[in-house]
Amino acid sequence: MAERLPPLSPRLAACAALVEPGARLIDVGTDHAYLPVHLLLAGRVAAPVWATDVNEGPLDRARRTALRAGLAEKMLFARTDGLAGLDPASADTVVIAGMGGETIAAILSAAAPGWRKGHRFILQPMTKAPELLRALTPLGLALTEDRLVREGETVYRVLAAGEGTMPALSPLELELGPSRPEDPVYAEALKRLVRRLEKARQGLSGSKNADPGRLAETEALLREAGKQWTMDNG
Ligand SMILES: C[S@@+](CC[C@H](N)C(=O)[O-])C[C@H]1O[C@@H](n2cnc3c(N)ncnc32)[C@H](O)[C@@H]1O
Repeated sequence: MAERLPPLSPRLAACAALVEPGARLIDVGTDHAYLPVHLLLAGRVAAPVWATDVNEGPLDRARRTALRAGLAEKMLFARTDGLAGLDPASADTVVIAGMGGETIAAILSAAAPGWRKGHRFILQPMTKAPELLRALTPLGLALTEDRLVREGETVYRVLAAGEGTMPALSPLELELGPSRPEDPVYAEALKRLVRRLEKARQGLSGSKNADPGRLAETEALLREAGKQWTMDNG
């Protein structure tokens, strides 16, 4: 008999919320496959769902979750790097979550051009969101959703992208997305960013070998973040 699984974490639930009903899904870097299994159990996606990972251990965990949930017949598994060797016609929605922004950008850049024809990407970078966003423009991808979600002490960025032209974003928008004065999670993320930048500025200005360009960038972002804080909080 199928076992009950624990609920999705707020981070994965926010990714799941961006999946459109009836999507044909591939979850790249699936690890435990919690996201695709929950979406299948909720009847939110079409079968079969692809769950892939570059490492065998995580893929084994994914297969076990599918078995526990009684969904082994409704899922396909592949051990591969990113989207390598996978058919763009096999899915219309690609989730790449829980990896660094640069790894996600590398997966998108290495994907065959067929993967950027009408697919919806749900991207959840754990770090370096600005680097990921900068990589979208040359790939002909643009953001369609940009959310912040809090899980415990951490604020995560959860994004959706599709074919399109990315508008120019300010350094602060690259870091945190559009300003959301009414959103306490945005206020929290802004406060943390200011703290991190102040520390970085201190480190850079106290170091003889610091790159002057990095110091100037840090100061500019700090000014933009400070202005935003004043606008939002008076
Ligand atoms: C921290 S887990 C994230 C699992 C799940 N996606 C989540 O968000 O909770 C990252 C997974 O990505 C896999 N991974 C890392 N680089 C990858 C790549 N280039 N292609 C496919 N999977 C990759 C790792 O093996 C690992 O299982």
